[in-house]
Amino acid sequence: MKKILIVLLLAFVIIQFFPIDKTNPPVNNGTDFLVVKNTPENVAKIIKTSCYDCHSNESKYPWYSSIQPSAWFLKDHIEEGRKHLNFSNFATYTVKQQSRKLEEAAEEIQGGDMPLSSYTMIHGDANMTAEQKVLVINYFKEMSNDIRILNNLPADQVKVKK
Ligand code: HEC
Repeated sequence: MKKILIVLLLAFVIIQFFPIDKTNPPVNNGTDFLVVKNTPENVAKIIKTSCYDCHSNESKYPWYSSIQPSAWFLKDHIEEGRKHLNFSNFATYTVKQQSRKLEEAAEEIQGGDMPLSSYTMIHGDANMTAEQKVLVINYFKEMSNDIRILNNLPADQVKVKK
């Protein structure tokens, strides 16, 4: 028993020598979703608090980002999150992608899948109230529709397939 504990402790100490890279890619306000769309402040604030740590280049690194292995999970979430949807690069997506991703974002919130529950467990402030959810869901849907209609995209092309 004692041996196992010593091995675990050693392993924990050793992995501390493999920290994560906490530098964010540069932020270009000209392509940021909230900036480009001039999102109303009350809505923008919720999106920044609940989504931007994983879906933008403005990730904030909390205390547990200095401790392995929790930092590795965090880093993985940020990389995966950005890959799927990066609000900082929003304007670089095609209009079809933009419309689709916003529709997806609305559905992820509606389905309770986003923000990730492992994240809201620690970041209580990222939990949205029922009213905040409605506000953000409606905003994402409205923006998705605007982009679709403005660009004459057929509805079935941007619909999210289940
Ligand atoms: C803790 C990090 C984290 C936070 C916070 C977070 N996400 Fe995600 N998100 C992820 C990861 C990781 C993925 C990719 C894997 C997955 O789908 O679970 C993802 C995927 C997505 C996708 C793509 C789903 C798909 O099927 O491709 C959308 C849309 C999305 N998130 C929207 C949001 C929105 C909107 C918020 C804020 C309300 C949010 N996320 C908050 C980590 C996060």
